Amino acid sequence: MSTVQQAATQLPPGPKPLPIFGNLLSFRNDQLGYLQQMQQQYGNMAMFYAGRTPVVVCFRPEHVRYMFTENPRNFTNREMAGNLQELIGDGLLTIDGETHRQQRRMVQPAFHKRRVESYADVMVKHTLEMLESWHEGERLDIARTMQELTLRVVAKCLLNVDLREEASNLGTSFTGMIANPVSLAEGFLRLRIDMPFTSYGRRMAAKRNVDSFIYKVIEQRRTEKQDVGDVLSMLLTTQDEEQSLTDTQIHDHIITFVAAGHETTALALTWTFYLLSEHPAIYKKLLNEVQTVLGNDAPTVDTIGNLPYLEWVLNESMRLYPPAWSQGRRAIEAFDLDGYHFPAGTLLMFSQWVMHRQPDIWEAPTEFRPERWDPASGQKVPQWAYFPFGGGPRMCIGMPFAQMEAKLLLATIVQHYRLQLTSGYHPELLPLITLRPKHGMPMTVHATSSAAEREQSVEANA
Ligand code: HEM
Repeated sequence: MSTVQQAATQLPPGPKPLPIFGNLLSFRNDQLGYLQQMQQQYGNMAMFYAGRTPVVVCFRPEHVRYMFTENPRNFTNREMAGNLQELIGDGLLTIDGETHRQQRRMVQPAFHKRRVESYADVMVKHTLEMLESWHEGERLDIARTMQELTLRVVAKCLLNVDLREEASNLGTSFTGMIANPVSLAEGFLRLRIDMPFTSYGRRMAAKRNVDSFIYKVIEQRRTEKQDVGDVLSMLLTTQDEEQSLTDTQIHDHIITFVAAGHETTALALTWTFYLLSEHPAIYKKLLNEVQTVLGNDAPTVDTIGNLPYLEWVLNESMRLYPPAWSQGRRAIEAFDLDGYHFPAGTLLMFSQWVMHRQPDIWEAPTEFRPERWDPASGQKVPQWAYFPFGGGPRMCIGMPFAQMEAKLLLATIVQHYRLQLTSGYHPELLPLITLRPKHGMPMTVHATSSAAEREQSVEANA
């Protein structure tokens, strides 16, 4: 990367931009690598051009703290959400200011500890039901399988809808909304051609499917007039400035919860199974803990608290493969940070992917080491160097839900099956809104007992 000097304009250094495209072509080509390389070359802060628009990338935990907790009101993600808003409307992820504070307060009770804990049984039940259909030696795309499972879980817990057959179709539609990103032509020329052969058209078709599902659920519940105490009931009975929420407002909240609340957890589990398959000794330690603590009993909200190693495994997996790998903000007013002065309107980006792998913060950053999370002997993690769920007033509202769900699902699956990555397969990273494996995660399932027997016989023969 050749450097452009920005001292006179008081902006951080960065790679030289091309006319019109700026650094967009190189950035789009390998977003994760490009950001990491900028961090290595420029240190604390760098800047690149998305077309003609400068984007400041912040690489220090102090920067994250500044934006998340010290000065969050000066940084909006509304305009950042860009095409996300076109897809999911005005839910928590895409609104800001007083509206955000008020609506977040309104839906918060749905994510209180007690309420979330009451979902534990549904989570385990759906997982066990899924496992009933698995067979020894079967090959599955675990990315897709986990997506269907977490979609069923979130639909049941938040909307009291049992998706059964629809989980696969609906999962495909949610994927279609994310996996057809804005193309260069669409972005630069603002071309919106709603045809099956354009990325925009595929995105909109997927959105129409999801929308019609959600509006059907809202209509059905309005007809039933029954308060079943879930998020949907809460939204239907809520008064916003003494008015009921409109169907569009309810739709936007629901689509946000379902979209944000299934794919992220599914990816956390997918990457965890990948890492466990690549690290048999760690898998064995995890299996040992699960078998010792749970025996043959299904995990519960109480017993998962006795599985510290399982928690470290998940923490470490989200360090290496954060499902939400970057976040963006736009400054409302001018501000000073790290010796630079930034004008109002500055776009900022910070990346979990880069921060979670920085060698001056993490010992052996690329190694999968769950033990680093052991509070007794692990390494001290500087505050804001690890933020898979974001932070401050916009911190993931679903974090307690996701953490409990990930633990319950992982423990239940590990009790029954060992997942082995298809030999020779190397997952390629696809950083969209979330960090996905580009071609899925093909894995073979082995019943836990037979996997343990095989290991014993390998050890006996060694
Ligand atoms: C492993 C799983 C998950 C991860 C890694 C994750 C990550 C995140 C992150 C990083 C943000 C902050 C975005 C920003 O500041 O720009 C966020 C926000 C959000 N998440 Fe999650 N999330 C997960 C699971 C969930 C679940 C299960 C739900 C709901 C059931 C959920 C609902 C939301 C919502 C509604 C927001 C917007 C909050 C606001 O702006 O007030 N997430 N999530």
